[in-house]
Amino acid sequence: MQIIQWNPKFSVGIASIDKQHQSLFDALNEFYNGLNQQKKSQDALRDLLVKLKDYTVYHFRTEEQLMQRYQFPGFELHKKEHDSFVAKINEIEERMQAGKLVISIEITNMLKEWIENHIAKIDKQYSNFLLSHGVH
Ligand SMILES: [Fe+2]
Repeated sequence: MQIIQWNPKFSVGIASIDKQHQSLFDALNEFYNGLNQQKKSQDALRDLLVKLKDYTVYHFRTEEQLMQRYQFPGFELHKKEHDSFVAKINEIEERMQAGKLVISIEITNMLKEWIENHIAKIDKQYSNFLLSHGVH
């Protein structure tokens, strides 16, 4: 089952980034599937959340390096968006670890909505700029 599905409307026109976004979707779907398996413990779910976070951090770094290399003017604002999302995942992870939070579909939906919104609105802002600098 998928909570998030790739669709051409998410394409930023840069193949390497589109591929990473698809892997990000895969990581979120894995997390979602874990949530739907009754037997999965909160510890196992937390492992899936960490996997999602690690891939997110790796992917954000790729985007940030590209924006910096070509001196994209929206870099600072974009990085702030990334940092706040990573902080959000860290907070969820810490609260889970402390036994103060049980992962729910609402939290999973919040992650999904953030990712979809970020790609559709924020990532698209760098696409023409990077494409005009020969990134593909
Ligand atoms: Fe981004």
